[in-house]
Amino acid sequence: MRFTDEFLNELRSKNDIESVISQYVNLKRAGRLSKGLCPFHNEKSPSFTVYPDNQSFYCFGCGAGGEVITFIRRIENLDYIEAVKVLAERAGMNLPEDGYDDTLAKHRQRILAANREAARFFHSYMMSEQGRTGLEYFLGRGLTMQTIKHFGLGYAPDSWDALLKHMRSKGFTNQELFDANLVRESTKYEKKRYYDNFRNRAMVPIIDLRGNVIAFGGRVLDDSKPKYINTSDTLVYKKSNGVFALNFAKNGNPSKLIVCEGYMDVIAMHQAGFTNSVACLGTALTQEQARLVSRYADEIILSYDSDEAGQKATKRAIDIFGTTGVKIRVLKLTGGKDPDEIIRKYGKEKFQGLIDGAANDIEYGILRERDKYYLDSIDGRTKFLTAVADILANSNPIVQDAYASKLAAEMQISKDAILQQIKTAYRHKAKAAEKEKFSTIVRDTFSAKDEINPDKPKHLRAAKAEETLIATIMLNPDFYPKIKEKITPDIFVTEFNCRVYEAVAKRLDEGRSIELSVFSSEFSPMEMGRIAQLTTMGNKISCTVAECDDCIKILKQEKSKITAVNPADLDGDEFRNLFRNLNNGSSTKE
Ligand code: GTP
Ligand code: MN
Repeated sequence: MRFTDEFLNELRSKNDIESVISQYVNLKRAGRLSKGLCPFHNEKSPSFTVYPDNQSFYCFGCGAGGEVITFIRRIENLDYIEAVKVLAERAGMNLPEDGYDDTLAKHRQRILAANREAARFFHSYMMSEQGRTGLEYFLGRGLTMQTIKHFGLGYAPDSWDALLKHMRSKGFTNQELFDANLVRESTKYEKKRYYDNFRNRAMVPIIDLRGNVIAFGGRVLDDSKPKYINTSDTLVYKKSNGVFALNFAKNGNPSKLIVCEGYMDVIAMHQAGFTNSVACLGTALTQEQARLVSRYADEIILSYDSDEAGQKATKRAIDIFGTTGVKIRVLKLTGGKDPDEIIRKYGKEKFQGLIDGAANDIEYGILRERDKYYLDSIDGRTKFLTAVADILANSNPIVQDAYASKLAAEMQISKDAILQQIKTAYRHKAKAAEKEKFSTIVRDTFSAKDEINPDKPKHLRAAKAEETLIATIMLNPDFYPKIKEKITPDIFVTEFNCRVYEAVAKRLDEGRSIELSVFSSEFSPMEMGRIAQLTTMGNKISCTVAECDDCIKILKQEKSKITAVNPADLDGDEFRNLFRNLNNGSSTKE
């Protein structure tokens, strides 16, 4: 136990779970609980549930769950102690002086400090006489001094060790700099040598939502390759989660966010007054990035480069953002390859015009299809309209009607025929979705893997008895004295449930209370989800001592099966019998 119960209780009572989660999720109260869209997976109808009564949360869609510390760990990607710190700070509490192991947290802090110092170094070097080349580069691209300062832009000297030397003089170790990805290691020599990762590059710091410098993008000043060197994943940075400039963009509480491809686009956009622009880092947009962006806006405007690669990326982004439920519009960039170029060539009014005229995702899809066919031929029009029917298949009837009217007139094909084709497309899609759903169910049933409790699929009946038993005790700690004699760790079949039970029993033996928060130091966030699930089982189990006795009985049966029979020793009939028993057993509950 790292923190005392008193400390954790105070932390918990000062960080009401509903108000903490509300900062990240739009919650709606429904009786004794609150519901919202899960921030940990993509969904369109809310299965993420917050229980103010016992200060827990659980998502019925993805199994994420736990108490307030676990929530912060997962959503902010922090370790246990850092999450406690965040909450303590939020509540204005001091952390206990010692008694916890914070080596990792300290190391992360050092990496953040190193990044901050490096950003300062790059910036002031650029502002000095020697760094003029860097400053001229940014000014040459039309940036003002104000923008340069706002984004903390800088210039990395054309040297193998200028940053290294500076950082060493500030007390950072080689290991810290290496772990921050600020220096690289050379293995050419017998003794390890380190050298600067960013040399002679225009530097863009990447800042997270709490204002920490977590990474850098470094651009060459000319046309040589690679154009960018970016910080690779470190303890404080995961590229696949990174969204550039979201720290600025979120401040305006925008209802729309403009998503661009590059750093330079975003910087130019902000300078032109479009301060709701961001860029997703890394080459391909990820689910995590889409989720993060969609948390801050209900509409996103995709503003990718006009080249082929940009258009491919747009299509992919529509698919990924489509699963988050935000409204999507797509800019058609004309007169230049990217937002930066268009703003510089034609000014911000032109760009505002493009935003106002941005197509929604359906229009964009139709535009793309239009380019693929030769519409003067009947064959071309047929193919085009068939493709359009696919795009419209899942839209609402009013939208379908509107497009059908418009296209019927233009293509000289009857509106009825188009609507008919849309219906056909819908049926095909629905059938395919049904098939996919069925095959997923079949796959999950037969190749079930359980990452959290790997023994569970093999011993389903036992695992369910264990879970019922633990849930009953957690919900009714007063049962514990009546049944504890009958339960010894060795009656458990699955190791994970045994660990959970032991943690529960230990608390109760010490006369302490059972709250989820007491588990979060020992169990990972994923494991906490499972434990939180147990506490939501209340209405599925009878919560009686008798049921506990049944569970114990089942566990004894299952245990004896495991220890008594080795399937390899059975003949065919016995084996089939055993299999039948196991199957029957697993379908009795739920
Ligand atoms: P400029 O060409 O200076 O206008 O840069 P940009 O910000 O417009 O970048 P571009 O549209 O060429 O690329 C989009 C994004 O992809 C960049 O901001 C980088 O994040 C990334 N990127 C581009 N080139 C490279 C590269 O060579 N290596 C890596 N790792 N990332 C790159
Ligand atoms: Mn560009």
